[in-house]
Amino acid sequence: MTTTEELLVERMLNDAAAAMETLNTCLGVRLGLYEALAGGPLDAHGLADRAGVHPRYAREWLEQQGAAGWLAVDGTDDDAYKRTFRLPDGLHSVLVDQDSPFYLGALPGFVASVAGVIDHVAEAFRTGGGVSFATYGAGTRHGIGRLNRPMFLRSIAAWIGALSGVPSRLAEEGSHVLDLGCGTGWSTIAIAESFPAARVHGIDLDEASVAEARQNAAARGVADRVSFTRADAAAFDPEGLRYDLACCFECLHDMADPVGVLHNVRRMLVPGGSVLIGDERVADSYTAPGDIRERLNYAFSTLHCLPATRAEGAKVEAGTVLRAPTVGEYAAAAGYTSFKEAPIDHDLWRFYHLTA
Ligand SMILES: C[S@@+](CC[C@H](N)C(=O)[O-])C[C@H]1O[C@@H](n2cnc3c(N)ncnc32)[C@H](O)[C@@H]1O
Repeated sequence: MTTTEELLVERMLNDAAAAMETLNTCLGVRLGLYEALAGGPLDAHGLADRAGVHPRYAREWLEQQGAAGWLAVDGTDDDAYKRTFRLPDGLHSVLVDQDSPFYLGALPGFVASVAGVIDHVAEAFRTGGGVSFATYGAGTRHGIGRLNRPMFLRSIAAWIGALSGVPSRLAEEGSHVLDLGCGTGWSTIAIAESFPAARVHGIDLDEASVAEARQNAAARGVADRVSFTRADAAAFDPEGLRYDLACCFECLHDMADPVGVLHNVRRMLVPGGSVLIGDERVADSYTAPGDIRERLNYAFSTLHCLPATRAEGAKVEAGTVLRAPTVGEYAAAAGYTSFKEAPIDHDLWRFYHLTA
């Protein structure tokens, strides 16, 4: 019979394997090892040459990836340097192709960036302080931006299309959209590409994200209709400009003063204007143990979202697990008269449509 202790030990070993394997996947993405293998099967020297890494490390990583089941091994030659490894079906879409709807190649780097600041997080737990978004660095910034990018570019027109009356407004020349907490700008760019008559303005508190958002918009050829400002969404003042739509994708839970943000945004809407919030798809109430979404969101909350929000000087500090009834309470407190869940299917997010 298996004892409780044995079951817990087995779980811990499985968790540690998953964590360490995720960091190995991070290395593969960061060093372009999967990309090199996308050109065809390679042995250790072939990978070392193509990716510019040392052959001994290439050999060990290939063996680790084969053992972990991420790479397929063709032949198990006794000479470790002669074994060849290849990407199995589907891996290119998940780890290499940044345009793929299945792309998750930026997730291991996000995990690694969070692990990299664990001492700061531990200190924040002790003191009640925070860890600024900027402290998490490029792995977090790019992780979030690149993970969300394919779905923004593919789906944002349909999401906005599901809000009654909004697409026709955005089809009018001179319409304006505000994209709050825009990060590296992919939602802002996707809105501009989907609604060519609209001017779209992204704001974010993080300086590096805003700088990259500007570069991304220029590279996509929409810089003439898209602009970005580093600003706190709770205090942003558009100097008289009014917006037809304000969007808030996966960031309301990160904002220190979500009610203040929604209140500020309400003042900036044209009469009949809308707010579209997309945030984590979590249950309406707490249950334990939770499903995979609750587990992932709580894990990110303790390690990233809550410390980053507290670094802003949190007033409300939702944490990542922002539940629908809480969003409804924020909307009511900020003076919105209508709050509805928007009819948008998504595995990981729920959408809310607010009108003044
Ligand atoms: C999880 S990221 C989401 C970024 C982007 N919306 C996306 O989906 O890719 C949250 C973003 O909210 C920004 N943020 C947090 N608090 C903010 C505030 N008070 N005002 C503006 N942006 C804020 C962070 O800097 C970060 O870029």
